[in-house]
Formats: sequence, structure tokens, C-alpha cells
Amino acid sequence: MSRSENPSNSRREFLKRLTAAAGGAALTPAWVSKSFSKTSSDRSFEPPLAIASGFNGEPAVKKAVEIMQNGGDVLDGIISGVNIQEEDPDDMTVGYGGVPNEKGVVQLDAAVMDGRTHESGSVGALENIMHPSRVARLVMERTDHSLLVGEGALRFARMHGFKEENLLTDRARERWLEWKETLSDDDNYFPPENPDDNQTGSLWEEFESHHGTIHCSGLDANGGICAVTTTSGLFYKMPGRVGDSPITGAGLFADTKVGAAGSTGRGEANLQNLSSFLIVERMRMGDSPEEACLKACERIAENTKIPRLVNEKGEPNFNVRFYALNRDGQVGGAELRSSNGSMKVADRSGIHTIELAHLLE
Ligand code: GLY
Repeated sequence: MSRSENPSNSRREFLKRLTAAAGGAALTPAWVSKSFSKTSSDRSFEPPLAIASGFNGEPAVKKAVEIMQNGGDVLDGIISGVNIQEEDPDDMTVGYGGVPNEKGVVQLDAAVMDGRTHESGSVGALENIMHPSRVARLVMERTDHSLLVGEGALRFARMHGFKEENLLTDRARERWLEWKETLSDDDNYFPPENPDDNQTGSLWEEFESHHGTIHCSGLDANGGICAVTTTSGLFYKMPGRVGDSPITGAGLFADTKVGAAGSTGRGEANLQNLSSFLIVERMRMGDSPEEACLKACERIAENTKIPRLVNEKGEPNFNVRFYALNRDGQVGGAELRSSNGSMKVADRSGIHTIELAHLLE
């Protein structure tokens, strides 16, 4: 590891910069002194096992392990698992029923990575196809490319017989309309005169931020490790905005020699820090999954400097969550800001909920 890669050096450098910025006064963010040497939540499971984001991943991990237990492939297992959320109209952060972009169009991102072959396939800003993770798999298996976006991704999906359907549910459309009608007093859209007619409530109350997503990784009994991440992305995003989910190294990464990692939350932070790649590399260097996920949180905190993205303490004002497993069956996760986040794990014994560690209160 080079000197500049050494996290304690970079932490020291960051502290020096902060101190200089504060005119020499000691200014130590709470997270800088945090020790990562003791982890509370890392736990080990006997493969086959699957992990996923806690708020929506239970059906996925259950399905993935069922398939692996019955002799199915780990990639089949985790993709079939996340397909459940892609089809679920009540999960407004993934697939059918996802919150649309600013034009009212649902655009989906997804990626798969096979840690056994180091191959990956992704789709970005894909419209009208309910299972973007299946299309991503076909990009990996049936093309020489890794990422197809927009019209090209849709054409490719049609080639493979995927049916086009309207992914915008009434519930998601009503939320989008409410957002649009209350966005500004200086446009031509008005909310209903009687506020009681606007019954939709705020999505902020239901979702902790305008990001959702499902990530699922699996480890089979032969040591094979694969990962998938699928999402409808940032609520009301600009048309064509692609987040971290379909970008290998950002929203997911898998290497059978080490482990796998994936993320939910603010995709731009993962795109700018290649967080999932970082987590797998930290595990390669000996970190436990939870320690590695905390390192990714720390990296984001160090690199977030733009005033609109930090609070009065200089800390990121958004959240990102990480989920990881290693080849020994150890699992753990972390979130940037404490929000009682969790991850789901399934193995032969059933479903387990694991609390995420956090960097910031
Ligand atoms: N992490 C999902 C997104 O930002 O699109």
C-alpha cells in the first residue's frame, strides 16, 4: 500500500486541511476519531447465503437461497430474488411502480457482476422493461459490451423478446404530479385548491431520502460470488440521469477471490468514490466486511466538500448504505449517517437482520 493510500495518512492530511481552513484552530469532525478496529455486527454464515438491503431485501435473499439450496446457480438465485422487487408496485424505488423522472417517465438502471469470471453487464435509463436486471445479465452474456443505455438498451431488450409495458403506476404518477404542482409558485401548474384533495402525502415520510434501490449478493457452496443492483433511481431525476447502480465498482462489485459489495443511497457519492470497488479492495487487504464498508463511508465523508452537500458541522448531509460479504461467509454493512439501517441475510437456517454500523450520528 502506498503512503497516499494509507487511510490513516489520508485522515491526517484531511485533518490538517480542516485545521488550516479553520485558521489553525483544532476542528475535528466526530467521525475522524472513530476506531474501526472493533466491529460489532460482522457475523459469519454457512453458504449458500445471500445478503440484501434491509428495507426491501427479505424476499430477495429468501428466494436466492432457496434457488441455491435446490442446486441452482448463485446468479440465477440473486436475479430471481431482485425480480420480486422489480415486479412489486409497492416498492417505489425499483422497477414497476418506481418513482419517475422529472418528465413522469420511469427510467431504470441495473447491473449484474459475476465474481467467478469478473464479467459484468449493465443497463442505464432503460424504459418500459420490468426486469432490467435480466436485461443486464444478457448484456453480460450475449454481447461483447458491458453497458447499454437508453434507446439502445431498449432495442436490445426487445431483440431478446422482453415485453414493453407501462411501468408508471397510479400511485407513482400521483406522487410525481404532486411534486410537479408544488415545485414552484412561478409556473403554470397548481396543486388542488382544497389541500385535502391532495391525499398522497410526502414520499419523504415513506422513504428516508429520494433514493431507494435493491442490492443483493450471494455466495454459493462452491465459493462462487455474484452481485446485482437494480433501481428506478433518484426520484424526479433529470431524464437520462444514470446513478451508481449500473456502474461496476460504484453500485456493486464482486470478486470470488475476495467477496462482494453493493450500495443504496446517493448514487453520485458512489460514482465519485467508486465505493463498492473500494470495499472489495479493503476486504482483499484484510478488513472485515463491516470495517470495509465503514472505510467507504469515511472516504465519502473526506471527499464531500461542496457546501450544498454538507451540514453546519462539515459532514455530508445525505446518506449512503453499504452491504458486503466475504468468501468466508462473513457479512456486514455500514451507513454514512445513522438511520437504524439494516441488511438482510438468508442462509439455510432462515432470514437474519443485521444492523448497519454508521460513521456519523
Ligand atoms: N443509488 C441509486 C441511485 O442513486 O440511483
